[in-house]
Amino acid sequence: MNILLLGSGGREHALAWKLAQSRQCTKLFAAPGNPGIASHAELVALDAENHAAVLDFCAAQQIGLVVVGPEAPLVDGLTDALRAAAIPVFGPSKAAAQLEGSKAFTKELCARHNIPTAGFKRVTNITEAALALTQFGAPVVVKADGLAAGKGVTVAMTMAEAEAAVAEIFSGKFGAAGAEAVIEEFLEGEEASFFALTDGHTVVPLGSAQDHKRVGDGDTGPNTGGMGAYSPAPVLTPMLTGEALERIVVPTVRAMAEEGMPYSGVLYAGLMLTKSGVQLIEYNARFGDPECQVLMLRLEDDLVDLLLACAEGRLGALPPPRLSPDTALTVVMAAEGYPGTPKKGGSIAGIDAAEAIGAKVFHAGTALADGALVANGGRVLNVTARGATVTEAQRKAYAAVDLIAAPDLFCRRDIGWREVAREAAGD
Ligand code: AMP
Ligand code: GLY
Repeated sequence: MNILLLGSGGREHALAWKLAQSRQCTKLFAAPGNPGIASHAELVALDAENHAAVLDFCAAQQIGLVVVGPEAPLVDGLTDALRAAAIPVFGPSKAAAQLEGSKAFTKELCARHNIPTAGFKRVTNITEAALALTQFGAPVVVKADGLAAGKGVTVAMTMAEAEAAVAEIFSGKFGAAGAEAVIEEFLEGEEASFFALTDGHTVVPLGSAQDHKRVGDGDTGPNTGGMGAYSPAPVLTPMLTGEALERIVVPTVRAMAEEGMPYSGVLYAGLMLTKSGVQLIEYNARFGDPECQVLMLRLEDDLVDLLLACAEGRLGALPPPRLSPDTALTVVMAAEGYPGTPKKGGSIAGIDAAEAIGAKVFHAGTALADGALVANGGRVLNVTARGATVTEAQRKAYAAVDLIAAPDLFCRRDIGWREVAREAAGD
């Protein structure tokens, strides 16, 4: 079967690597892809916003499965156009992708179906927001409603910070994403991510992960898209996983189907493990980046079998996905300046040496300049390794990082620190 993968980051390199290994994959195309993806796929210059062009390409190349990596094409309804043309696609419809695309949508769905999440108030102007802030008190969380490239959330420890965040949202800084806001109760606990595959009815767990959002060691500095991750996340014990499935993920999938917006694809739940149980922080309608990289390194099944079964509504006929009990850990190497303006063009060498010691290096933001590999984005490489423990996976990943010669890239040196500390303490 011919497959088309949309996207160009480390997440898509990991997906391309797994898709290309499938016995079902005849030819893989990727649009726009990157130099790492190019070793598994033919890159094509297709604009995912141009639905007609994507449909034409699928018809011309007899594409039997489209895999959508990032959220923007989902929220934009590309999957609806593909489904209307009877082209199997992995990823939710525009209506279902509101689970990621609108925080207010998700909070109200949770309220209607008793899904545990922080108390909230939906507001559409500064006056309503000010009233809600006085009701909640600090600490409090302020969120722009729509997709804001990860920059629309402020966890405010003081009222002054909360008021500044509200003012920023309603200043128009986030465009349409900031036409509404959600004011939320502050939840205390450890965060973990949980991934499930669903075809709209059947739900199967695909594993857990924890990431590191802050740019600096010790979880300091500004937020980023994620500087590293590992899977599984042992804090999400089998009992807590069961609770997340039964009280959050399964009821959500059931609710979406009942309300006429069946959700198919991967459902990525950001969870807070609080003293009073597991609470939903947010949903994403796609794989996490870099969480996908660690999940793909652990997945022991044929990825095409799973994604096609989601697309075709027959996930229940497959055995549940099998993941290696090993830990996979990925370290993001980012360009100087990230998460501000990253420096482009820095040279990169040593990937072969890093892979020779057993790591897998996924390309996130790379390009070829006169045949040489250079940095071309904020997050540039994802150096990923497996081990029997988090400590071992971390050691292998950093041994590989140290073989990469890229003077304009930096990384955190403490990815996995929580678990490494717990393992050292013998927990
Ligand atoms: P979100 O984009 O909704 O995932 O929010 C980004 C980050 O803000 C989350 O990963 C949490 O660290 C934090 N956050 C969001 N909502 C809450 C909440 N209600 N209580 C505490 N922290 C939160
Ligand atoms: N790493 C966080 C995300 O993909 O949203």
